[in-house]
Amino acid sequence: MDVRGRAILGTFFHAPTPVALEVLSDVLIEVDAGGVITSVLRPTDPAYARAVADLGEAIIRLPAGHYGVPGFVDLHVHAPQYPQLGLALDEPLEIWLQKYTFPLEARYADLDFARERYQVLVDDLIAGGTTTALYFATQDREASKLLADICIAKGQRALVGKVVMDDPAACPDDYRDASAAAAVADTREVIDYIRNQKDNADARVLPVITPRFIPSCTDEALAGLGQLAAECGCHVQTHCSESDWAHGHALTRYGVTDAEALDGFGLLTRKSVLAHANFLTEPDMDRLVARGTAVAHCALSNIYFANAVFPLRLALEKHLHVGLGTDISGGPSASMFEACRSTVQASRLLEDGVDPALPAAARGRPRSRIDLVTAFYLATTGGGIALDLPIGVLAPGYRFDAILIDSTARGGNIRLFDMNEPAAIFEKILYGASRANIARVWVDGRQLR
Ligand code: GUN
Ligand code: FE
Repeated sequence: MDVRGRAILGTFFHAPTPVALEVLSDVLIEVDAGGVITSVLRPTDPAYARAVADLGEAIIRLPAGHYGVPGFVDLHVHAPQYPQLGLALDEPLEIWLQKYTFPLEARYADLDFARERYQVLVDDLIAGGTTTALYFATQDREASKLLADICIAKGQRALVGKVVMDDPAACPDDYRDASAAAAVADTREVIDYIRNQKDNADARVLPVITPRFIPSCTDEALAGLGQLAAECGCHVQTHCSESDWAHGHALTRYGVTDAEALDGFGLLTRKSVLAHANFLTEPDMDRLVARGTAVAHCALSNIYFANAVFPLRLALEKHLHVGLGTDISGGPSASMFEACRSTVQASRLLEDGVDPALPAAARGRPRSRIDLVTAFYLATTGGGIALDLPIGVLAPGYRFDAILIDSTARGGNIRLFDMNEPAAIFEKILYGASRANIARVWVDGRQLR
């Protein structure tokens, strides 16, 4: 049922800050006709009883055992890689790209092939609670437009980028931009297409400038895209310092770090998101903070491709903007619940270290752990801040992008028994929820599922 122009009453969890879970018990959330939250009234609020009485039957009431949370913001998805989710995780990044990933992505130039797979992906992500996704499409211009069309039609909030990869020395002949100029022109065309798409008047789907990463682009393309970012003011995404090899590439090519090189091309903006960024130096982090650029932390993918764990605690202490990404298909799960779990787990491995042959004191990096509430904050509020969009928090002025968890679903994995302590229920939900527990999904107050 749509919540647009209506009110919904029940218990919600959200994390407006990294340090505290806020339990909104039996609150009344009012949403305007455009899907924006206008008020969140608690039972102790003087206006509450009156509003509940006035709205009466018009209120949508959550059944017992049901809890609302903000929808997840997946900050890093390779949409065309969905067919190989869970496959091909046996090679290092630079070989994985050439051997499996570029050949799969190249097939999306066939729009029938692309349509069938993109539709399944977007349906699955919505069903899994991802209300906003930051997508890499493929190098192909028309297939990138198609992905945006599908997100617009299905109602998901999305940011879609045509991938730029133009260096003939690094990209396959049958899967690359014909030239730097063509790459920039195609990017511009896709931006204009998405902005003017007739069913996208509310700009729920946004374009993104998307150089794949420095190793697959020429300097001319990177500079052209930096200029375009300044001109059009749209979002930017790329990969940064993901693995030893990727981090080393910029150092060898330019004598500076990946982040510094991207900055030199004008690609670090308030609306830029850098995927992985595991090997950022502390000066790199300070540079990102100064630019307002965010990191998409992809903890599960990093286990396979990164050679290290991103020092998330340090990044947060520096007030770097961070959100979470599944990195489909570098990470073998499309679930943002799983992204929260792997974020906590990776941080524990970083803190304690992993080699039992080392003495405990030399094994890890102290004070690195992240708790579940912070991970949830990153998957919701943090993603919204990274994208500079009013999402991820249940408060006036934010969009009503939310999911409803049915903790009682027999086919799900959450078993609460007689538990009634809200913080414990939240933990059980985050660790236990599967798709069977996701009863409803709303974007802009519109029910998608
Ligand atoms: N670096 C450049 N392209 C990719 C990609 O598709 N996935 C990951 N994980 N890293 C990349
Ligand atoms: Fe990636």
